[in-house]
Amino acid sequence: MNAYHGVTAVSASMTGKPYNSVFGLPLDNFIHLSCPHYWRFGKDGETEAQFTQRMADELEETIKREGADTIAGFFAEPVMGAGGVIPPSEGYFQAIQPILQKYDIPLIADEVICGFGRTGNTWGCETYDFMPDAIISSKNLTAGYFPMGAVILGPELSDRLQAASEAIEEFPHGFTASGHPVGCAIALKAIDVVMNEGLIENVRTLTPLFEEGLARLAENPNIGEWRGKGLMGALEAVADKDTKRPFDGSLSVSERIANACTDQGLICRPLGQAVVLCPAFILTPAQMDEMFAKLERALKGVFAEVA
Ligand SMILES: Cc1ncc(COP(=O)(O)O)c(C=O)c1O
Repeated sequence: MNAYHGVTAVSASMTGKPYNSVFGLPLDNFIHLSCPHYWRFGKDGETEAQFTQRMADELEETIKREGADTIAGFFAEPVMGAGGVIPPSEGYFQAIQPILQKYDIPLIADEVICGFGRTGNTWGCETYDFMPDAIISSKNLTAGYFPMGAVILGPELSDRLQAASEAIEEFPHGFTASGHPVGCAIALKAIDVVMNEGLIENVRTLTPLFEEGLARLAENPNIGEWRGKGLMGALEAVADKDTKRPFDGSLSVSERIANACTDQGLICRPLGQAVVLCPAFILTPAQMDEMFAKLERALKGVFAEVA
């Protein structure tokens, strides 16, 4: 739940957002597991380790109920992006991957947002110390300058597809613009710049400042949680910090905060009641200060109106 994977019939079916029901989605046979967001979904008295175990138990119960041979794969973002920047609970991937391996179910990392540096490593799965069976990449692949995506298969899935393709003489699957040479050229250059011109190092250098800034703003009585990884972060607005009670949806709190930021020339995204930041890898510490100063003004202004 809460994961975002796209808008085609299948990727929207994998997406764990209720709004896809207006399109008659998900299609049958797509199963969604609980969102591993401990702050929001942890039960009273439940430790983070117990919460992670509950997520893992749910996975195993689901596999047993459905039958492992009916399951094509497990899809997850290392950090949920459009769900509101939600890092998984502590030890999540270490808890679920052995279960997937036990039942021979591939783990596919949707790295469309996390990939190529966003979390401080080339891949989000490196940040979370797991090796997926396949990676989906886009966005940073071309630094956003050209629409392109990539599916990167590990040897096992690749061999299986190869063998299946030989049986029918070709791999009967591809888009008109697959492997587009302009996209490939831009991707190669963008990867070169990100990997070899110190951008990932800059993400790493800035991450502690980013976290400090988020933590400082989270001292506000109407911010329930700050969260993030690398240079993706979120502040979650709450009407009541102790009970984590959200604001009345009709107040559109996160939209108002985002609009108050836009008025000052800062773009951030409202997602649910969270305000999400995803700054450029070339950010400087001075720009980071400016970003937080603007966000702080926006928060103060909006909370003065609604709280
Ligand atoms: C994690 C993730 N996966 C997949 C997608 C879908 O990518 P596209 O819009 O290129 O299909 C997105 C888009 O935001 C995304 O954030």
